[in-house]
Amino acid sequence: MTHVFHRYPLAELPTAARGDGIEIVDSAGKRYIDASGGAAVSCLGHSHPAVIRAIKDQLDAIAFAHTSFFTNAPMEALADMLVADAPGTLRQVYFVSGGSEAVEAALKLARQYFVEIGEPERRHVVARRQSYHGNTIGALSAGGNEWRRAQFEPLLIPTVRHIAPCYAYRDKAPEESEAAYGLRVADELEATIEALGPKSVAAFIAEPVVGATVGAVPPVPGYLARIREICDRHGVLLIFDEVMCGMGRTGALYACEVDGVAPDLLAIAKGLGAGYQPVGALLASAEIYRAICEGSGFFQHGHTYMGHPTACAAALAVQRVIRDDSLLANVNAMGERLADALEERFGNHHHVGDIRGRGLFRAIELVADRASKEPFDPARKLHAKVKREAMARGLMCYPMGGTIDGRRGDHVLLAPPFIVTEADVDTIVDRLGEAVDAALAG
Ligand SMILES: Cc1ncc(COP(=O)(O)O)c(C=O)c1O
Repeated sequence: MTHVFHRYPLAELPTAARGDGIEIVDSAGKRYIDASGGAAVSCLGHSHPAVIRAIKDQLDAIAFAHTSFFTNAPMEALADMLVADAPGTLRQVYFVSGGSEAVEAALKLARQYFVEIGEPERRHVVARRQSYHGNTIGALSAGGNEWRRAQFEPLLIPTVRHIAPCYAYRDKAPEESEAAYGLRVADELEATIEALGPKSVAAFIAEPVVGATVGAVPPVPGYLARIREICDRHGVLLIFDEVMCGMGRTGALYACEVDGVAPDLLAIAKGLGAGYQPVGALLASAEIYRAICEGSGFFQHGHTYMGHPTACAAALAVQRVIRDDSLLANVNAMGERLADALEERFGNHHHVGDIRGRGLFRAIELVADRASKEPFDPARKLHAKVKREAMARGLMCYPMGGTIDGRRGDHVLLAPPFIVTEADVDTIVDRLGEAVDAALAG
């Protein structure tokens, strides 16, 4: 009898006993390849010696010092490193303990920025359907995942509006070009801003590459550039949520680099500390920082564990390894290998409608019928069966349902560690193929 209030109280889970490279070993000795990094977290696998050493060294020096009294060396060094590579005018880093906290900070900082500069009527946030920004109330309000929102709707922030995602496989008309589709859905932002009224919108938030809700969906070319243009035209801040797709996962340190578009605020977590410590961050533009410094001089926010020295030491070590070992090159090379292997295994599969993603962030979308793109009956819970079959075969992947609208559709997300080899990639796809076929047969 457990006294833990587990995430899924009715599930019987193996006990994670230790990590060994890209594998987790349970207490019975069974090995699981972590092909999803948990939920796109463990980008260096589970036993990286340099990261473990850095954490131990930090504990020996000092574990924690509250940020209202002290700054600390790993936090300062990590901010320098993140800003050195950051796109656009992102210059300051606000450290928190995870993705939802980073998004909450983004929403509040966007709001406070407009109060500071004398535009307090800006109160709306525009976001997209089929997105996920976290589970705290602000982040959940921004998110467009209907399933996650439904029962909490009465508590959610009423000044959030949702527009269409950029999900070409489902929503692009057959005769429409990708570029025309991208402009059409981006222009929903402008229509929404205009409908809400001049100077009433504070920010637009989006995941540059959509993660868990839809499964590794990159934007079509030109979409994010148009979004940036619209935000600029209306004085609206652009927030990118790179909690899942950032920090190298999609082949560039910041996912938005691939599209050549820089935001005003950018949230990161997951791969930042690779799971060795809970850590997230919000990068803010020089202009936003200046407005705070020259205004009230204080961002009215904060958490006890922000800028936690041990968490920052872990993240600093993770980010050093990624740079020193040129792991982004491996993300791109193994990402291509993974795309090819998925194409070979599932390209002609009757029940795989789409194979997509960037870098080591890939997904397959499962369909009952390829031609009509008809999804499986949600009552079948195909995604849960794939997860079970994969775990039985020693594979961690990240299947989800509700891909299309929060209720219908299934996909399987892969986000393996950046240290995978060609042989690892092939084993992952072999096991996934068996798991999908077994789930479909069940
Ligand atoms: C895009 C995105 N934003 C925010 C979050 C929330 O992060 P956390 O679970 O660390 O609070 C997640 C988590 O999956 C995410 O994928």
